[in-house]
Amino acid sequence: MQRASKTFYIETFGCQMNVHDSEKVAGTLLARGYRQVPRPEEADLVLYNTCSIRDKAEQKVFSRLGQFKKGQNGGKMFGVLGCVAQQEGARIFERAPQVGLVCGSASYRKLPQLLAQLEAGSGRVTGLELDTDEPFETEFTRRDNPFRAYLTIIEGCDKHCAYCVVPFTRGRERSRSSRQILEEARRLVDAGYSEIQLLGQNVNSYRDPSPARLTFARLLRAVAETPGIRRLRFTTSHPRDFTAEIVAAIDSHPTLCDHVHLPVQAGSDRVLARMQREYTREQYLEKIACIRSARRAISITTDLIVGFPGETEEDFAETLSLLEEVRYDAAFSFKYSPRPNTPALALDGVVPEEEKARRLAVLQEKQRQIQLEKNQALVGSAQEVLVEGRQEALQQWVGRTSQNRVLNFTVPRGSAGHSRLGTCAWARVTRAGPNSLVGEMLPAGQRQEAERLAGAT
Ligand code: 5AD
Ligand code: SF4
Repeated sequence: MQRASKTFYIETFGCQMNVHDSEKVAGTLLARGYRQVPRPEEADLVLYNTCSIRDKAEQKVFSRLGQFKKGQNGGKMFGVLGCVAQQEGARIFERAPQVGLVCGSASYRKLPQLLAQLEAGSGRVTGLELDTDEPFETEFTRRDNPFRAYLTIIEGCDKHCAYCVVPFTRGRERSRSSRQILEEARRLVDAGYSEIQLLGQNVNSYRDPSPARLTFARLLRAVAETPGIRRLRFTTSHPRDFTAEIVAAIDSHPTLCDHVHLPVQAGSDRVLARMQREYTREQYLEKIACIRSARRAISITTDLIVGFPGETEEDFAETLSLLEEVRYDAAFSFKYSPRPNTPALALDGVVPEEEKARRLAVLQEKQRQIQLEKNQALVGSAQEVLVEGRQEALQQWVGRTSQNRVLNFTVPRGSAGHSRLGTCAWARVTRAGPNSLVGEMLPAGQRQEAERLAGAT
């Protein structure tokens, strides 16, 4: 009889980097003979991969752990991974005594040893070393999405944005070699993934440790040329290191998607300086002008923080005017949240919570209007989408355009009813809301015409 294997459950909070880290952790556990289960109740080992970018994200893990009080967990082992693990360290054992493993992302390389100690009965195991030059390489990664694969190119962050906890939780920048990245890209395409998304806290500061010494823009071109690849994306770009060569690479490689995420954070020079962002509004707008000068229409999205210490009503008005000026295709906006260890803690001019909430609501309403107008301008156009899902109730396929817009479309009656997941389709946009488009799939003849027109631009 086969020995029943140990089971694990993993829940992920936070950004795409965390989602992908969890995929690598899951791969590491599967390689050790563990089996993944969909519910924590069924698992021998329950892992939470945590985020501490804002206060709310951080609280989530403790509320999860509170659901499994000590003595009521039937011999389960608990592990806290990621940014909260790195930030709180061994203090987590006091706050949640049922936890046996605390490990930050810079120590994931040691996970096999740490798991061995845990399995051998060591009560409290930690991986909290932050000072490493080695990225986390795994033999096997268990990817969640069957169509889009994340691929890490650089870990950590060497910037010093005054509000940000990431340099303290993810450690110094370390790039993977271009050889390994290109090999992984080839394997992913061979395995049938349609889209690859290159990941890093700041992909623009990629430094190839291998003799090829590829810059980020050259790496982008090289991955975009992987035979058989349909789509390539990358995130996140720090404006200071964003170069015209990246725009040139997008222009010359059709597989590179028409989208750049370029977090601005604030529109006022005074706030940008206090945030230690290392660029002015004008310098940022020059990068935007460079992206807009491309032959292809590249969509631009951003991140914004309101209520940073010292942000006055005039400063906030400058963020609103920046929204008008750039007219972003989408924006993620947040109330400033004070984070442990960060330089911004020492700044005066704390903005009251209600005022932060008011500014956020004003900003989000303005952005909603801009997105609605931009999306409505696409009604009538033909868009190519990569199909990612199905909404049965509405008889719609869910896809994403190259510009990263969600487009839900129906298929004309009489067309083949086979699954379209993971394939590309052309659709004409019939309706638009602030966050998504609705359309109908184009019949074959019109589709060829749309493809011809897209190729001509
Ligand atoms: N408070 C609020 N938002 C933050 N972000 C990072 N740190 C903080 C913080 N302390 C936002 C930034 C960043 C995004 C990932 O999260 O906008 O670009
Ligand atoms: Fe944080 Fe700035 Fe690094 Fe982004 S670039 S992770 S905001 S320190």
